[in-house]
Amino acid sequence: MILFENYTMTNGINIPKIGFGTWQIKDGEEAYKATLYALSIGYRHIDSAAAYGNEASIGRAIKDSGIPRADIFVTTKLQSHIKGYESTFQEAEKSLKKLGLDYLDLYLIHAPWPWNDMGGDHTQGNIDSWKAMIELHKQGKLRSIGVSNFEPQQIDSIVQATGFVPHVNQIPFFIGKPQMEIRSYCNKHNILVEAYSPLITGRIFKMPLVHELAKKYQVTVAQLAIRYTLEQHTLPLPKSIHEQWILENTKVDFKIDFDDVKRLEALEGGYK
Ligand SMILES: NC(=O)c1ccc[n+]([C@@H]2O[C@H](COP(=O)([O-])OP(=O)(O)OC[C@H]3O[C@@H](n4cnc5c(N)ncnc54)[C@H](OP(=O)(O)O)[C@@H]3O)[C@@H](O)[C@H]2O)c1
Repeated sequence: MILFENYTMTNGINIPKIGFGTWQIKDGEEAYKATLYALSIGYRHIDSAAAYGNEASIGRAIKDSGIPRADIFVTTKLQSHIKGYESTFQEAEKSLKKLGLDYLDLYLIHAPWPWNDMGGDHTQGNIDSWKAMIELHKQGKLRSIGVSNFEPQQIDSIVQATGFVPHVNQIPFFIGKPQMEIRSYCNKHNILVEAYSPLITGRIFKMPLVHELAKKYQVTVAQLAIRYTLEQHTLPLPKSIHEQWILENTKVDFKIDFDDVKRLEALEGGYK
């Protein structure tokens, strides 16, 4: 069953193959209840971020779940506008405090540029943050470290400056966005690809081929979309606040034929 399966990263650490996404889940009861429910049905991997503003509620749910800390894989992310050595130490500490944890399983640079300067060159800032994360990794506060929304050349620049290859790159990967170049780069460098927005933030339901194949495999559209990302050796992070969907999204223990995976991979766009 997918909830009990792991990928193993290059540092030898296991990471559960499906993670619970938490973007746009409101802080307070909504985030608390959704996370607690996800943990109660077997999710053991939570994808959070300082920018989501809900770390405290997620931390409370983790604590109240009664599940041993070592059995839950917790990710959070350095806000995209924080780029620097000292500031990264401070931000990681803030996230740990909000989550009520003394270490993180995975910490990611949320994006290579601040959201208000997408595409801007922040190479030096990323290198400085990456150096701080390597230090925190050595201290054991961050068991694994990685990046998000990074292109190959942006990964190259932090690796060239430090010699340390990210364990993970979290990118938008879903049907209609093949991401061939970055996926092949990550495979070559043994960087695990996490697939964010596997349901295209709710827009997956507009794609006719997905409906056709969901019917063929007798699964829901959401299940087909999540399974597709697994067939491509990536790690999906579906988000929902509805219990029936949080549960449905874990029932993905079926196979999609190679030819159908290729048909889905050939789709570009089509979800707007
Ligand atoms: N690193 C980054 O920059 C970045 C960016 C985006 C996302 N992410 C991560 O990836 C996670 C997932 O991406 P996402 O939040 O964009 O959304 P998503 O998982 O692609 O889609 C979520 C949407 O689909 C709905 N949904 C979920 N399961 C469903 C089902 N079985 N049937 C019908 N509808 C369903 C949800 O509804 P309800 O919520 O109303 O239940 C919500 O509207 C995020 O939460 C976050 O953890 C990371």
